[in-house]
Amino acid sequence: MAETQQEIVSVLTEARVFPPPQAFSQRAHLKSMADYQRLWDEAARDPEKYWGDRAREELYWKEPFRTVLDWKPPHAKWFVEGRTNLAYNCLDRHLATRRDKPAILFEGEPMDRRKLTYGELAVEVNRLANGLKSLGVEKGDRVGIYLPMVPEAAVAMLACARIGAVHSVVFGGFSAEALQERMNDAGAKVVLTADGGWRKGAVVPLLKNVEAALPNMPSVEKVVVARRTGDALSLSGPKLVAWDVLVKGQSDVCEPEWVESEHPLFILYTSGSTGKPKGVLHTTGGYAVNASLTTRWVFDLREDDVYWCTADVGWVTGHSYVVYGPLMNGATTLIYEGAPTHPAADRFWDIIERYKATILYTAPTAIRAFMRLGDEHPRKHDLSSLRLLGSVGEPINPEAWMWYRDVIGQGRCPVVDTWWQTETGSIMISPLPGATPTKPGSATLPLPGIHAEILDRQGNPVPKGQGGLLFVTRPWPSMLRTVYGDPERYVRTYFSELPGKYFTGDGARTDTDGYFWLMGRVDDVVNVAGHRLGTAEVESALVAHTRVSEAAVVGRPDDLKGTALVAFVTLKQGHAPSAELKKELAQHVAKEIGAIARPDEIRFAEALPKTRSGKIMRRLLRDVAAGKQSSQDTTTLEDLNVLAALRQNDE
Ligand code: WTA
Repeated sequence: MAETQQEIVSVLTEARVFPPPQAFSQRAHLKSMADYQRLWDEAARDPEKYWGDRAREELYWKEPFRTVLDWKPPHAKWFVEGRTNLAYNCLDRHLATRRDKPAILFEGEPMDRRKLTYGELAVEVNRLANGLKSLGVEKGDRVGIYLPMVPEAAVAMLACARIGAVHSVVFGGFSAEALQERMNDAGAKVVLTADGGWRKGAVVPLLKNVEAALPNMPSVEKVVVARRTGDALSLSGPKLVAWDVLVKGQSDVCEPEWVESEHPLFILYTSGSTGKPKGVLHTTGGYAVNASLTTRWVFDLREDDVYWCTADVGWVTGHSYVVYGPLMNGATTLIYEGAPTHPAADRFWDIIERYKATILYTAPTAIRAFMRLGDEHPRKHDLSSLRLLGSVGEPINPEAWMWYRDVIGQGRCPVVDTWWQTETGSIMISPLPGATPTKPGSATLPLPGIHAEILDRQGNPVPKGQGGLLFVTRPWPSMLRTVYGDPERYVRTYFSELPGKYFTGDGARTDTDGYFWLMGRVDDVVNVAGHRLGTAEVESALVAHTRVSEAAVVGRPDDLKGTALVAFVTLKQGHAPSAELKKELAQHVAKEIGAIARPDEIRFAEALPKTRSGKIMRRLLRDVAAGKQSSQDTTTLEDLNVLAALRQNDE
């Protein structure tokens, strides 16, 4: 990580403000900035009362908690002595009033459809929970989940929660090696998988990957296999069990395991800038309170919403905002298995039209990809059911924000740019759509009870307008509790920058209204001729150019300037790279931001190296830019060919 003694120069200026539409505010859970301010003050004045009240409202507690917070920095325990069960809160609690309401609407990539009501989902979960018990899975045991985006993924998570087992979902797009590394770190006893999943018309061979990893996963005693892509399962070996066979004849009733609030709920692996993936551990009560509350507030959930978060359950967004948050609120959550552009560029818009989806929550990388494909695809469809749009995963550039608002939201829908992390468990900085005026590219304000501050390395507040390090200075219920199996790394990564304060690893600034503008990871901050620049801002300027689709900017060591800026650029369809265009783009950045941000080198690329969740892997680009062979971990890279192609361009 780069040292940031000096200020980080912020170069993005964005003056547009969009107040919430009046009709939206009138019906919203939180209707005005006065509502926000009241809650904010309440939480700041007496955090324990505030969180205690929220916890009692959001969850059913079998045993009430006595202590709201036990904080021995950097270790927090929330809602101590309370007992609850998350599957109970997602299912049983709704059965009296929502038994026949769809909990999950599912569409497979090949257009197959399923609907699971709350009543039906509860039955599936209880049978699998009993099935897992019959395999010897007990409270505290780790269970791996390696499934496509099908309802079984949610069923599997909830079945684990029901019996107090700790799930660790591994994204279905990961390789056998990535699965193996994670399962071994977690010491998983059982892995739940499928024969395959559909992606871009082809089968992702999940079972084959599990079988390849199995000899090297000594802790795994059983593998439960759901049928998804084949006509019949052919299972060989004593460890493999068919899902159907396991649940057949199991009782529909499985008493929930009433776990203590701090009982681990899941481990989710996330890549750090160095070393092996970190097993981020979340526990039950605190996680659930924040996931439930933020889903209702940020998405302004209503009883009749058809809510669609496009994330895969392999990421934290899929945990909090596909499964747990919506189901705790008794909402209808839409799950789509496949690629956004299969069989055609309008698949997402087609889904929204057919299901009359009311809320769409997706990632900037997807939004920019859709922009690149052209407006004609969304324009072919009736998107009038949409009433709210959300974004998560990386800074959204104002250009993409505006396109999202105008073309997808047709100017009618508030856009919530939500900042959070695997480690935070739930949304931390975000507009409340009925209350907060939004600005394109800003995640706006921290939610009530969340103390986000921008500090320098000494812990001093950084003046408004100036970039610094983003910290969360007080504990919050859904914070990670540790790095699984490596408590040292927890302290080192998150609490050694400033003792007792959670370091996010992100750079940010606030504007004169106190709005937060995320500037990317701090290790993506570069020092050019003594000025620190958030590379995200240069990228934002580049993608504002009409011919540019995506851009990634990294630093390369430079004798003269310390660091030179290298921009990797992909162009929109129909535009060809040329020396002239390079010049034009460099000038464009200089004009948009200033000469200090003018890229020293622009490289055109067919594609940028990305993780499977769509984040550009800038650390790999840094090596390419510097002409170095990469010593970095590439296990999370979606397509190794992209890297090879970039290196070839080099020659
Ligand atoms: C980035 C995803 C700017 C940020 C929920 C963070 C964002 C990392 C935003 C966490 C946003 C996420 N604006 N940056 N709205 N949301 N990020 O763990 O750098 O996959 O630290 O969690 O994504 O990524 P993670």
